[in-house]
Amino acid sequence: MTPMADLTARNTLGFTVTANHAVSIGHPDEIAPALTQAKASNETWRVLGGGSNAVLPNQLDGLTMLMDIQGIAILNSDSDSDSISTQIEVGAGVNWHELVQWTLQNDLPGLENLALIPGTVGAAPIQNIGAYGVEIKSFIQEVQAYDTKNEKWVSLNNQDCAFSYRHSVFKNDLSRYIISKVIFALPKQWTPRIGYADLQQYFAGQATDTMTPDAIFSAVCAIRQRKLPDPRLLGNVGSFFQNPIISNESLKKLQQQYPQIVAYREGADQHKLAAGWLIDACGLKGYRHQHVGVHDQHALVLVHYGGGDARELLELANLIQAKVFERFGIQLQIEPIIF
Ligand code: EPU
Repeated sequence: MTPMADLTARNTLGFTVTANHAVSIGHPDEIAPALTQAKASNETWRVLGGGSNAVLPNQLDGLTMLMDIQGIAILNSDSDSDSISTQIEVGAGVNWHELVQWTLQNDLPGLENLALIPGTVGAAPIQNIGAYGVEIKSFIQEVQAYDTKNEKWVSLNNQDCAFSYRHSVFKNDLSRYIISKVIFALPKQWTPRIGYADLQQYFAGQATDTMTPDAIFSAVCAIRQRKLPDPRLLGNVGSFFQNPIISNESLKKLQQQYPQIVAYREGADQHKLAAGWLIDACGLKGYRHQHVGVHDQHALVLVHYGGGDARELLELANLIQAKVFERFGIQLQIEPIIF
């Protein structure tokens, strides 16, 4: 156990964060003893992956487990040649983008639309990461986790994970499960998914059957690099709010007043609004509050210019929520986990 660990490099907002006790978890067997010790010393505890979807306070009390379990293994054997997918088992501490690259290098396409999402594999199921028309729930077969309530190892199948837009059983109660490994099923039959507006534009005029996983991977990387700030250069946690889901009826009313509003169909009865558009329409793009602000290229991303902290960021988030509510009657929900 390392006393007083500096986690400034382990949160992509780049806040100066000190943890009372931090321990690197490199193997699943280390989880239960770390928890037992935390309970014996009456310490609170939490798990941190890459810190790319987390807002951390200056001081983290109790125990912080740094999820560092590595390893990528193909589970299928030669006798599985009839199976429609390839199963890969991946440690929770593996870097997400490195996994996407590994799958493509090993001729196992499917995850290319999710390229360049910061963070770790263990964090992916928690918020059901998604981008460019794909959500990770479509590829998760099983999540292995330590159930801290019943103090035993469990294996949750896709249904058990209760995935929905940026949500899962894990996000419901962050103190229940500690994810150690994720098993992905990558279909052997690959189909390109380029329906998302940005990808359609990128590939305009090209025939779908000439599309390759590597071409989509490169396109997604290029689009993200153009639109989203690189956390290594400007602190951020990607989208700060979820895109709100509203009824078709509510959308109709909003469209009467705001014909330009951006919305996507979400099932038969609902639409998902682009929260970035709502914030932008309030004139907040580029708005600065002390050492944090609204990104000047994408209003859904809040950025840290240096010297700021979680308190300032949450003040800015409150201000944005209040303005959007005042104007559109919509309550934006914060997307990252606030510790
Ligand atoms: N828009 C504006 N002004 C802005 C920002 C966006 O008008 O300042 C409009 C855009 O023109 C576009 C629409 O809003 O018409 C949607 O924007 P974009 O395509 O950039 O996607 P998003 O809805 O803002 C979501 C995810 C992203 C993901 C992209 C691409 C959420 C909360 N965010 O963003 O995920 O990369 O779609 O699929 O669902 C993340 O979760 O951290 C994240 C980056």
